[in-house]
Amino acid sequence: MHKNFKNIDKIVYGKGAFNQIDDILAAKRDENDKFMVFIVDKYFEGKELADRIPAHDEDMVFFEDIDQYEPTTDQVDNLRDKILAEKGVPAGIIGIGGGSIMDIAKALSLMVTNEGSSQLYQGLNLVKKAGVYHMGVPTVAGTGAECSMTAVLTGPVKKLGLKCDWTVFNQAVLDPELLSTVDTNQWFYTGMDCYIHCIEAESGLYFNAYSKAYGDQALALCREVYLGDNAGQNLENDEKLMIASLFGGLSLTYSEVGACHALSYGLSKILGTRHGYANCLAFYHLEEFYGDAVNEFKSMIEKHNVDLPQGLSKEWSEETIDAMAEVAYNLPHMWNHAIGLDWKEKWTKEDIKKLYRRL
Ligand SMILES: [Fe+2]
Repeated sequence: MHKNFKNIDKIVYGKGAFNQIDDILAAKRDENDKFMVFIVDKYFEGKELADRIPAHDEDMVFFEDIDQYEPTTDQVDNLRDKILAEKGVPAGIIGIGGGSIMDIAKALSLMVTNEGSSQLYQGLNLVKKAGVYHMGVPTVAGTGAECSMTAVLTGPVKKLGLKCDWTVFNQAVLDPELLSTVDTNQWFYTGMDCYIHCIEAESGLYFNAYSKAYGDQALALCREVYLGDNAGQNLENDEKLMIASLFGGLSLTYSEVGACHALSYGLSKILGTRHGYANCLAFYHLEEFYGDAVNEFKSMIEKHNVDLPQGLSKEWSEETIDAMAEVAYNLPHMWNHAIGLDWKEKWTKEDIKKLYRRL
């Protein structure tokens, strides 16, 4: 069976594209109970970008704090309950922020029309009804959340996406100027999520020409942004990184992530470690999976003087490592890709624990 992939309906890309949001939303404002909900990274509260959000009087604006932890099912359920109780079903949901905000906006667009907790829908095609119109406006580039068909949430039991055709954004607004406020570490970790998506996509069973075409372009752009003559944070590179993120996401969508993302999910689920950072912590130690790419990654760290602590596992109890390995082991699609369909014969939870002890 080949993937039958739902793409974003519409994409606007370019410097200042943020200013087109109000016009784009105008055509949608008559739907449902005729108001829009803006979900915005709390970082922007009181900042210049917050004043530019085209919210009308009837709209709701939520500044969500996603600094410490990955988005949770509770967070989405609470937002949904509040919106429905106060104003009803929105015409649309607009997410303005990084990957976590993209995930919350996508999940919320489904949860305002589907009953019960979002925990019930963590998995593939479990959502029963179409959600409302939703728009993604990334302010950090790399996660590919703007194009993925999953809204990853951490619940009491699992870290897993609400994954179905209705999850995919109806509209993406890709304005590279929005990336100018990202601090260097965040810029690096999140950009590396894109780099790692491409490397993982090409290092396994599900790799194919579709994935390669997007992945090669995304990798070339990442190399210019992080290692080129003009490497670093500037508008020219932000324009490239925004597209690298999209293409990396598309490369990944038609292939799969592998060992690095499996370990990263364990770190996020058990310790709350942010996704891009968790990927970097793991990728550094996965030479047998990703070969020269790990050396290239290390040269990027060096070039940009990024903090990537070592020796973290010394602080972890046996129970913590065990719990993380349990999460990572239970991601069979990733191990299928990374090791092969017979991975269970070659690979155990003990092997995964050994990888965690390297960190
Ligand atoms: Fe990722």
